[in-house]
Amino acid sequence: MDKYEQVIELAKRRGFLWNSFELYGGTAGFYDYGPLGSTLKRRIEQIWRETYVVQEGYMEIEAPTIGIEEVFVASGHVGGFSDPLCECKNCGEAFRADHLVEKYVAIADTLSDEELDRVIKENEVKCPECEGDLGETYEFNLMFKTNIGPGTGRQGYMRPETAQGMFVDFLRLARFYREKLPFGATQIGKSYRNEISPRQGVIRLREFTQAEAEIFIDPNDKKHANFSRFADTVVNLYSDEAQERQEIEQMTLGEAVEKGTIAHEFLAYQIGLTNHFLQRVGIAADKLRFRQHMKDEMAHYAIDCWDAEIETDRFGWVEVVGIADRTDYDLKAHASVSKTELSIYREYSEPKMVTQFVVKPNMGKLGPLFKGKAKAVADALKALGQEELEQENITVTVDGEEFTVPGEIVEFAEETVKISGENIIPHVIEPSYGIDRIFYSTMEHAFEEEMVTGKEESDEEDARIVMRLRKEVAPVQVAILPLLTREELINPARSIEAQLKQKGLLVSYDDSGTIGRRYRRNDEIGTPYSVTIDYDTLEDNTVTIRDRDSMKQIRAPMDGIADLLHELIYMNRDFESAGKAL
Ligand code: GLY
Repeated sequence: MDKYEQVIELAKRRGFLWNSFELYGGTAGFYDYGPLGSTLKRRIEQIWRETYVVQEGYMEIEAPTIGIEEVFVASGHVGGFSDPLCECKNCGEAFRADHLVEKYVAIADTLSDEELDRVIKENEVKCPECEGDLGETYEFNLMFKTNIGPGTGRQGYMRPETAQGMFVDFLRLARFYREKLPFGATQIGKSYRNEISPRQGVIRLREFTQAEAEIFIDPNDKKHANFSRFADTVVNLYSDEAQERQEIEQMTLGEAVEKGTIAHEFLAYQIGLTNHFLQRVGIAADKLRFRQHMKDEMAHYAIDCWDAEIETDRFGWVEVVGIADRTDYDLKAHASVSKTELSIYREYSEPKMVTQFVVKPNMGKLGPLFKGKAKAVADALKALGQEELEQENITVTVDGEEFTVPGEIVEFAEETVKISGENIIPHVIEPSYGIDRIFYSTMEHAFEEEMVTGKEESDEEDARIVMRLRKEVAPVQVAILPLLTREELINPARSIEAQLKQKGLLVSYDDSGTIGRRYRRNDEIGTPYSVTIDYDTLEDNTVTIRDRDSMKQIRAPMDGIADLLHELIYMNRDFESAGKAL
């Protein structure tokens, strides 16, 4: 078994995660989170909320997971969110054409459908299932389609990213934040992508959880007010240029901005924050890097993008977070499709005197001439330059229709006017997290199988599986273990359980099997501390606390046990000095 198999086997057996629809044979790309998995995932999401919502102040919103067609036309997903699909002419199985040719070309996912077909032909690539001939490659849109309402209804799509919710709500959010840049909004929720043939288990899902922040910033000022927080943080950077040399560079974020490796402070701050978050939830620092997108792999909306990638045993470096500068792409696109101005008014610190070319159509005369279209004609005239306005008859086009306006009813002049502000379209910085991949990676990085000799479970050498999850994400933080199922031990054990719950700790009560076995069960699910209640407890009111990682034990008083465990879990209190060593 490789590590992926070991982790997934444990995840299934101990109630973290398993294939959806198992009862009916399962379907690729869908996983259910069990009781411990859901809890671990929520802990990760909660730390994300604490990071982005509480600390950064990017408030959370909740938009529908189904979107109307206009949204995804504007976003570019209807037109371009696709993967190259190629089907076997013999068995009908579908494949990602770029995956089929990966071993023949360096960057297969940048090839056009025609180029992919050429590589398939030249290398005589056959169906991996039945060796049959492959059909022509075509683009398959990854959005799940649905109908809104009965009958043919209105075309809807399951959202492929949560981001569009924030863009569609831009004007309301701008008002909420009193139009002061930078401001941001976040969402944690499900997104959907109808992947062609997901074969990477929990790494590539058709329904998955994203945590995204859309941060609206001044396009002319991409500095970050709090950049000093991460300026000295050293990260593993794999810039486009470093990728050509295949050499990961360690650099402070300050240095990276100075050298121009990262485009600006705001993006670099987001990399720092992501680096901080991922390590806080348990990603090993030496298995984490930030890789810049090569120019030809950048999403259609981005001008710079860095992926946080995590090294995994089976899949190598896996993208878990994308941090993109989406510029004003989305706001402009939605403004154009919705025909609504999506900008904010920014007042200058001092008014400015500017010389402007001003066009003044005579509305009294335009009205009778063009009736309902007079305003639109006037607006079109205002967009013209001097040369076009100096004609005897001026021609403008409104909604595809041409109108001729007598030049004499349009005045224009250069005027010096006082202006107090301007409308600007913010740029967007987006950290976009794939929570399921982070969930799996925290499990894999925490998973360890070690040989222990003469410890707890057996006098012989035996293997212990231990999930060294960070204490604050562990789905069970303390196991309460009465030595025997006797009333005199159950009572204090239940009392401790109640106190810990009251303190907000995640607790399990486990009284079946030998104590050694119970310790091992808890090691496997990553429980950082176990509390054993025995006959000494009745004598001197103390309990044994066992540390998962070192397997060391201390004896500590029952009084104040909830505070003590809270400090051990959340405040890094030293374990060995927290009680009497055993
Ligand atoms: N919002 C970025 C993505 O979903 O890939």
